[in-house]
Amino acid sequence: MNTIQKPVTKNLKRSAIIDSVIFDLIEFRKSCDQQLYYAIDENIRFFEAARHIWTYLPWLIFRYPTIDTTKIKELADYQLHNGLWEEYLLRSLIKLEKSKKIDLVGPLRQELLTQIRVIAASTTKPIIVINVGCGAMEIERQIIENLTSQPLAVSVLFIGIDNSKTALAMASDNLKENRVHFSTSRELLSDDIKQLQQVDQPYKVHFVLGDAVSSLSQIEPDTIDIACYSKFIHHLSDEEKESFRNFTASVTKRVIEFDDYRGVYLPLMSLLTNWHNPVLLNGAVFSSLRVPSRSELEKQQKDNHSWSICVFPLKGYIKSYHRSDSLQKTHSILL
Ligand SMILES: C[S@@+](CC[C@H](N)C(=O)[O-])C[C@H]1O[C@@H](n2cnc3c(N)ncnc32)[C@H](O)[C@@H]1O
Repeated sequence: MNTIQKPVTKNLKRSAIIDSVIFDLIEFRKSCDQQLYYAIDENIRFFEAARHIWTYLPWLIFRYPTIDTTKIKELADYQLHNGLWEEYLLRSLIKLEKSKKIDLVGPLRQELLTQIRVIAASTTKPIIVINVGCGAMEIERQIIENLTSQPLAVSVLFIGIDNSKTALAMASDNLKENRVHFSTSRELLSDDIKQLQQVDQPYKVHFVLGDAVSSLSQIEPDTIDIACYSKFIHHLSDEEKESFRNFTASVTKRVIEFDDYRGVYLPLMSLLTNWHNPVLLNGAVFSSLRVPSRSELEKQQKDNHSWSICVFPLKGYIKSYHRSDSLQKTHSILL
């Protein structure tokens, strides 16, 4: 835990945010594992550069392309300052996701709604959707809103897994307006799922405060109807990514992965839209180093036909898996 000396509120000015972040990173570096030094130093360099546009542009042109994508992490990965920087990030992300004009999570919402309705047409059992690295659960809020206006004959249990207490607080707050049954736990057991299925409500939300992989590994195969993860998988290392995909595909029939793809559009768009918020700028720019490029996605599609990949310009990609392979291709652009 880092020592917090600076008085920090949630409404800091841009320059004070940068001062406070750099202070936290320097303090964290004093006691962390040496393996993290590279990523911490690149983060400090980023925030120093982000003080002024005239220092940021040279950083973006000369330093950014040289960063080792296998070693980099984002500020919000460290959970510093009692989760304050994550809160900054998630609050800004939720604002973007709520914007009807931008409709950032539109492709994921459409895909999930299509899959949920396909399953609902052939079952009388409650449908279970799990969202790994669920953050503030904005996608669930939008889906419940949509299903409320066009109800299904079966109920839906939404389970979110996230290791951040900030995400839990934000999800509980974000879902208040939907008036859904909201429960939490620190692990996910099959018995808990059975009990939740019996709650007599059309939509139920359960938040598991825990690590993604260990929480999922407690689930019996085929208990879950759909597993999805949005802007989450790039937080894992390359080996972890593949085993995570294989693992989710082994415990559930349908998997939907949604994330950004690498391209100049991400650092440029985030410069235009997130300059006022250096924490979100950091998340966008550093995550753009950790996501696949379009050509890498094409290669993944050629190498593995069990997953289908679609790219949504300026919004990201969806990589989906359906074990019986009757997945309907509803996407706008197929690779
Ligand atoms: C960029 S946010 C995305 C949040 C949400 N899915 C969305 O699209 O708005 C990534 C989320 O993954 C969570 N996360 C990262 N690594 C995790 C892990 N190993 N286990 C559980 N959650 C994790 C973070 O706490 C954060 O809430």
